[in-house]
Amino acid sequence: MWIIRSIYLLLLGLLVFTIKESDAVSCNRDLGGGSLPRIQGDNGYRVRITGQPEFYNPGDTYQVLVQSTPPLSFKQFVLVAENDAGEPFGELSILDTRQSQMAEDCPHGVTHTSHIASKTSVTFQWLAPSETGAGCVTFKASVMHRKVWFMDEGNLSTRLCEGEPVTEEEVTPAFECCACSVAEYDFSFYGQWTVQTHPKDYPSGRGNHWSDLIGATHSSGYTMWEDGSYASDGVKQLAQYGSPVSLQKEMRLQGSTIRSVFKHRGLWPAVGNMTNMLMEVDRRRHMVSALTMIGPSPDWLVGISNENLCTADCGWVESAEFDLLPWDAGTDSGISYMSRNAPTNPQEKMHRLTATFPDNVMSPFFNTTDGELQPMGKIVVRRLSVMEAPCNATYGETGAHDTGDSGETMVKPGMDKHMDTTDMPPKKNMVTGRYVVDCMMSEWSDWGECSKSCGKGRMVRTRMVKVRAKNGGESCGPRKESKKCMMEVCPRDCMMMPWSDWSECSVSCGEGVQIRTRTMKRRSKGSGEPCGDRKEMRVCEATAC
Ligand SMILES: *[C@@H]1O[C@H](CO)[C@@H](O)[C@H](O)[C@H]1NC(C)=O
Ligand SMILES: *[C@@H]1O[C@H](CO)[C@@H](O)[C@H](O)[C@H]1NC(C)=O
Ligand SMILES: *[C@@H]1O[C@H](CO)[C@@H](O)[C@H](O)[C@H]1NC(C)=O
Ligand SMILES: *[C@@H]1O[C@H](CO)[C@@H](O)[C@H](O)[C@H]1NC(C)=O
Repeated sequence: MWIIRSIYLLLLGLLVFTIKESDAVSCNRDLGGGSLPRIQGDNGYRVRITGQPEFYNPGDTYQVLVQSTPPLSFKQFVLVAENDAGEPFGELSILDTRQSQMAEDCPHGVTHTSHIASKTSVTFQWLAPSETGAGCVTFKASVMHRKVWFMDEGNLSTRLCEGEPVTEEEVTPAFECCACSVAEYDFSFYGQWTVQTHPKDYPSGRGNHWSDLIGATHSSGYTMWEDGSYASDGVKQLAQYGSPVSLQKEMRLQGSTIRSVFKHRGLWPAVGNMTNMLMEVDRRRHMVSALTMIGPSPDWLVGISNENLCTADCGWVESAEFDLLPWDAGTDSGISYMSRNAPTNPQEKMHRLTATFPDNVMSPFFNTTDGELQPMGKIVVRRLSVMEAPCNATYGETGAHDTGDSGETMVKPGMDKHMDTTDMPPKKNMVTGRYVVDCMMSEWSDWGECSKSCGKGRMVRTRMVKVRAKNGGESCGPRKESKKCMMEVCPRDCMMMPWSDWSECSVSCGEGVQIRTRTMKRRSKGSGEPCGDRKEMRVCEATAC
């Protein structure tokens, strides 16, 4: 008994010991659970880093993706980021909590969730170590396909080393414009978002449009919007509802950091261009930013941010072109053009929409076969004239363009007539003194199908409220409209009354005829069954001879 007990205790001790031991063995990436076979090669699965950088910068974040080559998909996977000694390196974190979580068997790895759906791509964030000289990282993935799994081979590993440290001299100081003159530019937007260029889910006949475009020339003291920053309320209003009104108010509050504000009425539908906007730049306010919303969309925009027009030799860029790719304002989580409103809480930073991010097949930009998106438009700025000005002129601080009692600080007089001024400056309610906002509605959709497949029916068309009326502004019209529609006549079968009894035989001796009749109860219509005979005759043999 004593011996048995000792052996039992000994076994228990060993058990406890081995459990401890496997805790220390840092990372188990065997997806086969020791029984399913591991196959060589990557078999079309891969690890990718967005933008395919050649190096990493200490302290920067990167998007790392585990992907398959469609039609292949996968469910289970483990991804790790390790240094050359196989130790955890940098920090991997989850972006999509629905599809991924931190791995239990591998404390520094990330893996699928228990709720495993087939997918072709999962995105993670990797934060590079912030100290320099830390070495290289290798992202390694194991992926399971049905009853076999693959690990680390071929494109299932990718290595990235630290970039050359930037020396003090190479750090370019904030650009200082030395142009004395003032330049006037034409600003034009050319739409390139069509069902041909962006066929996936293109909202044809569903109110596709570009919202009003708004832009400004400004100093480095103002940022209208920026990659990796939180959208201001004005940018949010533009991104979600296509309304530039609050953004314009924000600009007014900037005072002399802004020289010109320009606007153009949106395009309904999203066809054509917004051209001939005028703007001016000077030594202090030599940058241009602009935005317009992709409509309909959750909170998507195209535009330019902090583009400098001043040249190093104290002159002005003659012309510049910018291809426009979509941005997400980080305020609404909708995934497709027509997604219902889904406020993002907490708000996210502004970021690009790419073929792999968000990695959701519902995204109209999602495409695993080719990382390149077609531009949705182009902005072109062309220098029109240069006005010489003394080099000691101080712009802004005391400048003539900047102060005014109305608060219309930066819209240069004379600019207005070149702009579409439908709601500019915003009207004020005489009584409350608040800004009046008129209702803004989308275009009507195409008429829907007739409610009946034959005969008279109704058909309906709808439109959306883009901006609600405020402070006594013009209220919204109906959101739904219907009208009669007439399809072909509905088919109806003929209906007859029952036959009468047969008449007496026409003769009293020999062969005669009998008849019977019926009347019509209801005529046939359209392609319905036509009526039958109304009279029938038959031979009869009379025997009373
Ligand atoms: C890895 O990916 C590249 C580019 O996508 C491809 O050309 C190459 O054949 C792949 N390598 C393997 C081993 O599958
Ligand atoms: C828009 O601009 C492009 C390029 O200049 C031009 O080809 C096109 O015809 C313009 N579209 C409209 C509707 O004016
Ligand atoms: C993905 O991109 C390729 C190449 O541009 C294109 O041929 C293909 O149609 C795109 N797929 C989808 C679903 O848009
Ligand atoms: C700028 O320089 C000119 C000539 O050197 C001088 O007459 C003028 O007063 C100066 N203006 C200012 C604002 O300093």
